[in-house]
Amino acid sequence: MSRKLILASDNAGKLKEFSTMLAPIGFDLHAQREFNVPEAEEPHPSFVENALAKARHAARLTGLPALADDSGVCANALGGAPGVYSARYAGEPKSDSRNNQKLIADLAMQADKSAYYFCVLVFVRHAGDPQPVIAEGRWDGEIIADAHGQGGFGYDPHFWLPELGKTAAELSSDEKNRLSHRGQALRILIEKLR
Ligand code: IMP
Repeated sequence: MSRKLILASDNAGKLKEFSTMLAPIGFDLHAQREFNVPEAEEPHPSFVENALAKARHAARLTGLPALADDSGVCANALGGAPGVYSARYAGEPKSDSRNNQKLIADLAMQADKSAYYFCVLVFVRHAGDPQPVIAEGRWDGEIIADAHGQGGFGYDPHFWLPELGKTAAELSSDEKNRLSHRGQALRILIEKLR
């Protein structure tokens, strides 16, 4: 018998990717929107705090176990910025192209262009769960000024993978899932949930 699990996100891509991997271990994943759960606030300075807040919010409003993720890109020369502010780095309304231009401008005077994507996944059995299951993934690369590739989203056209000689936007979705911060975190989470 499969167990209902709420995904604390309304992103259709994430729902598909996560449900494909969670179904074989007995979870039936549903978007929070199906249960009329509004998006939670993400006011915290760390990925794990935001993911935990989102997971607890969805579990509280549905009475079901919940899974949340929080992710972003962190530039080493910028002390980890944009980090949790990645989606709105260049302000409202959120725009991938303005975010990318701001990150490139902020790094223009820096010799160190290294950056990494980071993802935290949090699973809670119920809203007050004292032992959330937490998994992290990190994917290292460099920020380059020229855009390459049509795949992915967000910072991917400027996220250069030196060992592959490509940006993240030039990978197939299977390749990206195998390598990415989110793919890594999801595989670790699944091992922990088994
Ligand atoms: P969220 O956790 O899906 O809300 O992602 C936060 C933000 O981080 C996104 O809006 C993107 O700007 C950035 N981000 C996270 N993961 C990726 C990725 O795999 N590729 C490109 N950008 C990403």
